[in-house]
Amino acid sequence: MSRKGHKMKIAVYGYGTVARGFIDILKSYSGGNFELLKIVVKDRDKKRDIKPPLLCFEKDDILRDKDINLVIELIDDADDAYDIVVSAMRAGKNVISANKKMIAGKQEELIKISENNNVSFLYDASVGGGIAIIRNLEDSYSDENIKQLGGILNASSNYILSQMHNTGVEYSEALKVATEKGFAESNPALDVEGIDSKYKLVILVLHAFGLPVDPDDIFTWGISNIIKQDIRFAKKKGSKIKLIASAEINQSGKLVLSVMPHFITLSSLLYSVEDESNGIIGRSVFLGEQFFYGKGAGGYPTGASVFTDLDAISNGHVYKYKKYRKGNFPDYTKDHLLEVYLRSPAGSKKVMIKFISVSESWSDNEYDYIIAVTNLKDLYNKREELKEKEYFLAVTSQV
Ligand SMILES: NC(=O)c1ccc[n+]([C@@H]2O[C@H](COP(=O)([O-])OP(=O)(O)OC[C@H]3O[C@@H](n4cnc5c(N)ncnc54)[C@H](OP(=O)(O)O)[C@@H]3O)[C@@H](O)[C@H]2O)c1
Repeated sequence: MSRKGHKMKIAVYGYGTVARGFIDILKSYSGGNFELLKIVVKDRDKKRDIKPPLLCFEKDDILRDKDINLVIELIDDADDAYDIVVSAMRAGKNVISANKKMIAGKQEELIKISENNNVSFLYDASVGGGIAIIRNLEDSYSDENIKQLGGILNASSNYILSQMHNTGVEYSEALKVATEKGFAESNPALDVEGIDSKYKLVILVLHAFGLPVDPDDIFTWGISNIIKQDIRFAKKKGSKIKLIASAEINQSGKLVLSVMPHFITLSSLLYSVEDESNGIIGRSVFLGEQFFYGKGAGGYPTGASVFTDLDAISNGHVYKYKKYRKGNFPDYTKDHLLEVYLRSPAGSKKVMIKFISVSESWSDNEYDYIIAVTNLKDLYNKREELKEKEYFLAVTSQV
């Protein structure tokens, strides 16, 4: 672990959107306590504006270099990221990462490795881009009884949904622009299928509620099947469709998790969260409702978050994981009722979802529509069947 005031000698892995944003911010810093020694990349043929000895391709050189005391992992490959992060911590180096997929899948193991090697492992940039949500959960919510936490965690999906709602463009056109603007992951399916939001939710849940969750254990439904009719119907109901990652304590004191599109009305703070912005609402016993809002992606907002982690590590900061360590986390359940809007191709063989009550149903030439109450557990159990169909599914309200 870094001692306060100790000079940080840094190796950055990756030279993409986030790494370049971070390096620009580092260059603009005049404190003199941070020194960038190496940037490690993969592709030897790419044209770059950096040269050796700063630029290098051999990841193991950095791990053997005793001078380097901080590794900043900003690559887009979760398996390679895991190798880099684990090897760096085992070599006694502090680590910063923005890789939510890698962190969500291995969070408990990574916490243990950082402890065993007495190094800091910070990853504020992995959730909410420039929003310091993990830091807030660690600092202000470590003893708070949180009842609800969630919101818009994926910039690319929110950009697509905002453009469809506000300008009337088709899904495919909005996705193309989101990718061109650098908001989408290298594999945009991670964004639009809700998978990126799910990983972020898993990371938040461990900090907010202390509960480690397997990402595969969360019902996750994205926006890739959305069409203009869905947007039009939501507008008729005075709503916008937003992709929401949600963690909520139910009436029996159990935690309910999901990632799904929701109909969001003007009364919600999330209604006005547009384009690449993210918005997270926390509700807790003593702090009441708090709203976190800001740019959820892009080189500078995410790079600024990485820079904040760097500053924190230089001051000896580590995450405390207070609730996780105490082990006083709630039970997790999928047994939860919610009202959904479901659009399916007309006349097709339907997935047999159990509807508890139906409030509206209608059809046009192409599609059948239903608004009905169902159980999240049933949706989760039928998730593979549902994925095979071109259904669009959104929560209209919690029951
Ligand atoms: N973009 C955002 O707004 C954003 C926001 C929050 C979090 N994140 C996360 O931040 C990370 C980086 O995202 P990004 O958008 O900056 O990615 P990116 O623009 O696609 O850049 C990826 C970089 O990783 C490098 N790389 C891949 N495998 C490598 C390896 N094995 N060794 C060394 N370098 C390797 C690539 O090297 P080459 O240059 O040689 O190809 C490239 O420079 C990801 O985990 C992402 O999920 C991104």
